[in-house]
Amino acid sequence: MKIHAMWQNYPTIQKELSQTLTLMEKTIQLNNAEVQGAILDMIHAGGKLLRPAYQLLFSQLGPNREPQKTIALAASLELLHTATLIHDDIVDVSPLRRGLPTIQARFGNDVAVYAGDYLFICCFKLLTQYTSSLRSIELNSNSMEKILVGELGQMNMRYDYTGGKDAYLDNIRGKTAELFGLSCFVGAYESGLNQVTANNARQIGLNIGMAFQIIDDVLDYSEDATTIGKPVLQDVQQGVYSLPLLLALESKAAALLPLLAKKEQLTDEEAQEIFTLVQQSDGVAKARQLAAKYTDDALKGIAKLPETPQKTRENLLQLTATILKRHS
Ligand code: IPE
Ligand code: IPE
Ligand code: MG
Ligand code: MG
Ligand code: MG
Repeated sequence: MKIHAMWQNYPTIQKELSQTLTLMEKTIQLNNAEVQGAILDMIHAGGKLLRPAYQLLFSQLGPNREPQKTIALAASLELLHTATLIHDDIVDVSPLRRGLPTIQARFGNDVAVYAGDYLFICCFKLLTQYTSSLRSIELNSNSMEKILVGELGQMNMRYDYTGGKDAYLDNIRGKTAELFGLSCFVGAYESGLNQVTANNARQIGLNIGMAFQIIDDVLDYSEDATTIGKPVLQDVQQGVYSLPLLLALESKAAALLPLLAKKEQLTDEEAQEIFTLVQQSDGVAKARQLAAKYTDDALKGIAKLPETPQKTRENLLQLTATILKRHS
């Protein structure tokens, strides 16, 4: 199975990610050709597979790594991620994902809701089949709850900038960082590392996830839709004020506030004005600085990990540094 080109430099992980995708395909067995096809198209559209990759890498540190189980855990994480993306695109009314029309744009909200629901089920099917521990179900449910709470926090703050950076950071810790934390934790814990080490892994993952979401939000203000494979300017039109805009408000409030006051009535041209104002401010640079700080914390944690024959620490350092520099 063909996977994202970024894994060319990590041959072991590349091979296991390919097995992960194959297992995901095998698990998705829906007796409805339309939904089945829609999900498979999305899976073949070339996501970066970062969460399963972190799980696979952290599992190399443990004494009891079982290849089949590790692949199944990687697949469960990517299935969970894909489910949240399908539902996210419904909520965000987004026409584009991974450079392709989204499931709800192609088939409508009903198919997209079912497709997302089914992938949550697939995630738990794999967990019950391969882990035989209630603990992993508990961990996944806890993380799903935190993702949901992060998304709800973001929804409750739509068109409201008064919570500023702190409220934004709280929400992204739930909606995005949590799943990176879970991926690193699961890799460490399920391969036999103790709870303390697994918690360290989780902390590293949380820092990676924070940096990852900040960069995702920076890309909305610094790249075009073709490059990132999803729309830009959409968050702001829907009242999701992400970090570059919140930081731009510190220096450009006079110009930005009258535009934000338009809320749902904001036109495409006015959204474009906001975009230009943010780009002219230091909001993007300051957001990048904060992402660099989270990445730095993650790298410090990784540097303390033991080295393995597969050069796990080196690969984790390299991969985590790349996330900060990505353009898509
Ligand atoms: C998108 O995640 C959702 C965010 C948390 C920003 P990714 O950028 O990892 O999406 P894919 O899987 O590579 O498409
Ligand atoms: C993604 O947030 C978070 C989840 C999928 C839970 P975004 O809405 O920023 O993700 P993209 O930009 O659509 O990928
Ligand atoms: Mg979205
Ligand atoms: Mg969203
Ligand atoms: Mg985004």
